[in-house]
Amino acid sequence: MSGDAKRNAVRVIRGGPVLVSGPVDIELPDGAKVESDRFMVAVCACGRSKTYPLCDTSHRKKRRRTD
Ligand code: FES
Repeated sequence: MSGDAKRNAVRVIRGGPVLVSGPVDIELPDGAKVESDRFMVAVCACGRSKTYPLCDTSHRKKRRRTD
């Protein structure tokens, strides 16, 4: 790894998003791209966000029991 290359900080939140220093271009499995110019971008890792791939804090909500 090059010593001069700029490193990006990524922080994984247990049960929550992955925080990535922005701006970022996010590529989804279907090839769609989402851009964010925020200083810090919360990428949804739980799959429940209504604004996926960006976290909308839905990971905090309790799931209803179905049994
Ligand atoms: S990680 Fe926050 S909504 Fe998915």
